[in-house]
Parts: sequence; structure tokens; C-alpha cells
Amino acid sequence: MTSSRSDRDRAVLSCPNAASPNSALLDTPLPDSALPDSALLDAAVLDTAMQSALAAALDGPRGANPLVGAAVIAADGRIVTGRHLGAGTPHAEVDAITRARAAGIDLTRSTLVVTLEPCNHTGRTGPCTGAILDAGIPHVVHAIDDPNPQAAGGAALLRARGVHVESGVRAAEATALNDRWFRAYREGRPFVTLKLAQSLDGKVAAADGTSRWITSAASRAHAHTVRTRVDGILVGTGTVRADDPQLTARGADGALLDRQPRPVVLGSTPLSPESHLARNPRTLHLGAGDDAGDEAPTPLPDHLRTAAAEGISHLLVEGGPTVSGAFLAADLVDEIHLYTAPILLGDGLPAVRGLGATTLLEAHRFVLDAADSTSSNPAVLGPDVLTRLVPAPAPSPDLPSTSTPEI
Ligand SMILES: NC(=O)c1ccc[n+]([C@@H]2O[C@H](COP(=O)([O-])OP(=O)(O)OC[C@H]3O[C@@H](n4cnc5c(N)ncnc54)[C@H](OP(=O)(O)O)[C@@H]3O)[C@@H](O)[C@H]2O)c1
Repeated sequence: MTSSRSDRDRAVLSCPNAASPNSALLDTPLPDSALPDSALLDAAVLDTAMQSALAAALDGPRGANPLVGAAVIAADGRIVTGRHLGAGTPHAEVDAITRARAAGIDLTRSTLVVTLEPCNHTGRTGPCTGAILDAGIPHVVHAIDDPNPQAAGGAALLRARGVHVESGVRAAEATALNDRWFRAYREGRPFVTLKLAQSLDGKVAAADGTSRWITSAASRAHAHTVRTRVDGILVGTGTVRADDPQLTARGADGALLDRQPRPVVLGSTPLSPESHLARNPRTLHLGAGDDAGDEAPTPLPDHLRTAAAEGISHLLVEGGPTVSGAFLAADLVDEIHLYTAPILLGDGLPAVRGLGATTLLEAHRFVLDAADSTSSNPAVLGPDVLTRLVPAPAPSPDLPSTSTPEI
């Protein structure tokens, strides 16, 4: 079958935003003769479906895996989205396929749109390419290629099996969606979440050193849920000395939850043999071998690569202020979970030390992470507020000048 571009435009499916074709969105022109009937889609339809897939991706947990969303465009124009909700759960393509099947959609006449190239490897779940081929989907459009060589190759395999594959729709947004994840991947380190539990005036301990409990039971319950989905929790030797933490994930009754992260300690000071973490055989002590003398300490990125080599793909940094400052100063924080309790401590320990910013222009800037369909951001947790933040993509052009004092 052959069809011209204008034929395809006329044959556009019943999508609400199908009015403005924009073939520039596609980096690969559609080779008319290769297209199945099901792929007679206007570029605007693909664009709308990709927007839905990008929105669906935000429902996924930030961390060990990239955020991925997918959408099935049915022959009647219906769009059914799917998302990946974390390690061990179905990938976005499989989720969208499952939901489309449940909606009675004929997948052999549908197009699958996905924010990242379909994977071609068997991890905890099967390869997405297999699910797509099994479903008989004739047309796949992905936004960007997979940077992971283990997972990549899906597009080539699908093409070799006769599926019409295109890429490049909303590529900039798909790249931005996982900007920090891709950076962590390139640097060979875990994705890093920094947790800060502070007072209204940014203190994590009172002047006398007491720090339990600044935030409420609701905040702590949330933080323990986060602990269950990370691979490791890191504190510095200062916090081990001050608090003797266990770094376990526990329920409200104190019972251990099913999935336990690996405790990680940073610093050259040996742990007291009586401490919880010294007695835990799973504890990973980074920097324990560092000479406290003249030798330069091991750089933080090297420690993180060691953690990654130990199987830690998502690391939760829980402080204290010296460690939090070191991670932030080195631009190694991919997201912040900021729990703020409505108390004032005045003199006390600041949440972050040694950041290296001396003027406002050197401030480290963050923006609210996008809210998803299941939770708001900021979120109210009992009396506290949880704000999820990500590094600001670029300096804001409307920054106030520090040379002109505000009066
Ligand atoms: N409210 C909260 O959520 C919260 C959470 C955690 C801690 N805290 C409080 O914070 C206080 C402890 O603060 P802190 O700043 O002393 O402790 P910390 O940040 O946990 O530990 C500081 C130590 O970490 C090691 N370290 C830091 N940066 C490093 C790097 N780049 N490379 C290698 N090692 C590095 C150093 O250990 P070595 O000197 O051994 O090399 C340093 O002395 C306690 O009062 C605790 O209660 C509060």
C-alpha cells in the first residue's frame, strides 16, 4: 500500500488535538510504502499521545530506574496510557498494552508511543520488544534512544521483525524528564535522593544536639516508606556518633518492613564496635580505609562508584549537615525530600554545612519536582510539609542582582 503525506493527514484518527500537523516533530520521515494502515497518523496525534505518555511517566518513583510512560493509540483514536511504577513491576509499554487489551482495543491496528526506546533485555521483567511483537503492534514511536547498552537495541530488533519504528517525538522533553537519571548513569553512580528533616528555620538539631524527633510521625512514616524502595541509606560518621542510627525501614509499630536498604557510612573515623551499624554485617563503610593523615581523601564520586559496584542504584542520603553539604557542593544530589516541621529552633545545627556559596549568585537553586496523578507536591504530612525538589535546570534570567540592595 502506498499513501502520500496528505492521504495520511486526511486519514487522521479522531484525536482532540489532531488539527495542526507538525511533521517536524518526527526525525524520521515516514516512508509511505512501509506504513501499515494503523499508522496513518497525523504528527499531531503522535504528539498528543507522547504528551500523555510523558505525563504518565511522572507517576513512577524517582530512583533506580528512569521514568518511562507509554500510550497506545487505537484505530478509533482512543489513547490508553501506561507507566512504569518501579523495579520488578511491568514496564510502561507492557502496562499500556495490558490496559489497552482490557479496554478491548485491537492492538494489531494500533500505534505504541513510548518516552524511551523499548528495552531489549530480560531483567526482573521480560523484554518490552517481546511484548510488542507478541501483541502484533505494527507501529512504534519512541521519543529518545536508551543510553543503556544493555537495554538498547530494541528499535533495531523491532525493525528487523517488520515493525515500523520512528523516534524523536518530544525528544527534548523526554531527555529533560530523566536529565538527572541519565547524568547519574553516565557518571556510573547511584541516583541520589537527599533527605532533610528540619525546623521552619532550617535546623536539623537543637543547640544541645537533640534531633529526635523534629518531624512528625506522619513524616517519619513517609520517610520509612521511601527507605523501602532505595538500595542504600548513607550517613556520615558524625551522625553515627551522635545518634547511633540503625538505618532500617520500619513500620509504625517498629517492625521491620519487607525490603531493607543497605546501611552506608561515609567517613574515615572507625565506628564504635558497639554501634548498631558496626554490628550490622551489611553495613558498607566508605572511606574507612582513607588515611586521616596527609593523603587527600577519596573523592565523593569515587565513593559513589564503589556504592554502585556494590549494587546500590538508588542512594538515600540522610545527612548530617557535613555530608549533605558535601553532596550538594559536588552537585551529586538528584532530588531533595525536604520535610519541614512547624517548629523554630533558633540556635541549632543548620541542615547543610560547607556548601561553598558566599553570595546569592552562588546559591544552589532547585525547583519543585512535577506532581503526579497520585500525590501532590508540596504534600501535607500531619503538621509537616514535604517538598520534593530537583536541581534547577539553568540559572534563572530574572535573578535579583546582589549589587543592588533591596530596600
Ligand atoms: N534532623 C535530621 O534529619 C538529622 C539527620 C542526620 C544528622 N542529624 C544531626 O547532625 C549531627 C551530625 O552532623 P555532622 O555534620 O557532624 O555529621 P555527618 O555529616 O553525618 O558526618 C560528618 C562526617 O562525614 C564524613 N564526611 C563528610 N563529607 C565527606 C566526604 N566528602 N568524604 C568523606 N567523608 C566525608 C567525615 O567523617 P570523618 O571525619 O570520619 O572522615 C565527617 O566528619 C548530629 O547532631 C545529628 O543528630 C540530624
